[in-house]
Amino acid sequence: GEAGRLKGRRAIVTSGPTHEPIDPVRYLANRSSGKQGHAIAAALSASGAQTTLISGPTRLADPLGVEVVHVQTAAQMAAAVEAALPADVAVLAAAVADWRVRPAVEKIKKDAGHAPPELVLEENPDILAALAQKTTGRPTLVVGFAAETRNVIENARAKRARKGCDWIVANDVSEATGVFGGDDNTVHLIRADGVETWATMRKRRIAERLAERIADALNHTPKH
Ligand code: C5P
Repeated sequence: GEAGRLKGRRAIVTSGPTHEPIDPVRYLANRSSGKQGHAIAAALSASGAQTTLISGPTRLADPLGVEVVHVQTAAQMAAAVEAALPADVAVLAAAVADWRVRPAVEKIKKDAGHAPPELVLEENPDILAALAQKTTGRPTLVVGFAAETRNVIENARAKRARKGCDWIVANDVSEATGVFGGDDNTVHLIRADGVETWATMRKRRIAERLAERIADALNHTPKH
């Protein structure tokens, strides 16, 4: 991308999965690698944005030049996003757990002859919806992701409306696409005025193109 187009802008990116503890040694997780989110943070930073990446547990190195806040749980990610404000743009690419487990303080014992323990789930905060619907301090541009396995565009359009975000980057994550953990992605950029379908390309290239679209959209808007 064209260097410096986001100079003077502040960006927040979330990436990776969250880990929701069951007890001190166990957790619930998902298969997000964090590759797309980390690439977006790197691309925004390369375009000159002062970028904070809030990352769940991944195997990835911290992108150079990006302030990285490492978190485990959805609740910690929500607090870190709030603490990173104000921002001109927020791209929430993390695969946040929908539910947390009401955690046990002590390690749950496998007692012979006893029934398996039951996990009691509680709903996690929706970080994207909360940010997009803020009445004060809302970033100028709030971008969410939608991982879908069918009716990708239709579901993503509905998600954009429901969450109140400006854009949704929709991707098909059906098994056959190899998107989860892979280096390529096929996405649709859903905006109020229509849908742009991008050819399959490297996650890094998608990140660069998204940074370009963000720079176009923020052009002439006041800085945070
Ligand atoms: O509702 P769903 O998980 O499909 O929405 C995906 C989008 O919402 C992603 O941008 C994801 O980062 C965000 N999200 C969030 N907090 C949640 C659940 C999803 O920020 N608790």
